[in-house]
Amino acid sequence: MKGICEKEMAYESGFNQKRPISLVRGKGARVWDAQGREYIDCIGGHGVAIVGHANPEVAEAIAAQARKLLVCPGSFCNDVRAELLGELVRIAPAGIARAFLCNSGAEAVEAALKIARLLTGRKRLVAAMRGFHGRTMGALSVTWRKEYRAPFEPLVPEVHFVPYNDVTALEEVLSGGDVAGVILEVVQGEGGVIPGKGEYLKEAQELCRKTGALFIVDEVQTGFGRTGRMFACEHHDLEPDLLCLAKGIAGGVPMGVVLIHERLGRMPPRRHGSTFGGSPLACAAALAAIRFIVRERLPQRAAELGAYFIERLRGLDSPAIREVRGLGLMVGVELKGKAGPYLSGLAERGVLALSAGATVVRFLPPLVISQKELDRVVDAFSEVLP
Ligand SMILES: Cc1ncc(COP(=O)(O)O)c(C=O)c1O
Repeated sequence: MKGICEKEMAYESGFNQKRPISLVRGKGARVWDAQGREYIDCIGGHGVAIVGHANPEVAEAIAAQARKLLVCPGSFCNDVRAELLGELVRIAPAGIARAFLCNSGAEAVEAALKIARLLTGRKRLVAAMRGFHGRTMGALSVTWRKEYRAPFEPLVPEVHFVPYNDVTALEEVLSGGDVAGVILEVVQGEGGVIPGKGEYLKEAQELCRKTGALFIVDEVQTGFGRTGRMFACEHHDLEPDLLCLAKGIAGGVPMGVVLIHERLGRMPPRRHGSTFGGSPLACAAALAAIRFIVRERLPQRAAELGAYFIERLRGLDSPAIREVRGLGLMVGVELKGKAGPYLSGLAERGVLALSAGATVVRFLPPLVISQKELDRVVDAFSEVLP
């Protein structure tokens, strides 16, 4: 009989570079493969599994909603959607008044870029070098890595990249007063787990306000407790005009959101939309996930366990490590060589981690992970390091 990987790879597009592991079950911060082998999951579906795998409260909410109403277009109102929108605005950073619901991080970014052009009547967009915002044409246009962009050019025109954490470069590009929006991550994830400096991000916001550009913050990876605060914006008291979210918002069910500052008002009807955006199923899952995150104080847990994890990783005395950095449970270890062999070594020892660029090993565990499990991750890492 054919194995799962063999069967899947026979028909899969090929875009996904596969690891030879078939994951079939999960619970909390652990997953199991088809042979019953257990792993501590520090990939968490690329940072999605914030509330843990098979979270019973999310599972129950999904099952109950599936029996009640799966589909309700945005042109009608719905009880769970109304509830979720209220909850999102309640937990959002100061100034947020509305939300647009969609289905993924890239879609949230697309919507934010369109809103920036729509409301300012300007075309220019500014993004950061090493930034990552998604793979659809608009989101890709503001994504830095050349290998991702080059085969698909021409992309959206009038995108300008500036070095991250560099106020002068931003001042210069905004001085013309013709920029529709500036999009930044608070911690660059895919770019190598690079935390933004507080003064830089605050100055970026200030410059946007002064020059009439919208300040767009992409918290697709950092949102919902990952960095030790509900939103990474809160570390620096930021009040973005548009805040993009996705990943863990609905406990694993696809959902994206753009949170909208009150000063932008209500969006003009029919200028943007999505068939599946805000489906009652995703809304029910999101409500259950957010209630779990709030009640279990997962942001605080991420802050405490993240500090512990980073300290333990910094204690690994290996010539292969260049730097350990991160915020909360978004952690990167920059190595002097390629990350790939270390990721394989970790997997052989029952730990799943991912890369962030060629030389960074990235850990994005579920926020329900225990200290003991993090100790096991550090022990496994120490075994694969020289
Ligand atoms: C910061 C950031 N923005 C956008 C995206 C794109 O999200 P999605 O893969 O859901 O389209 C990602 C995905 O990793 C991300 O990390």
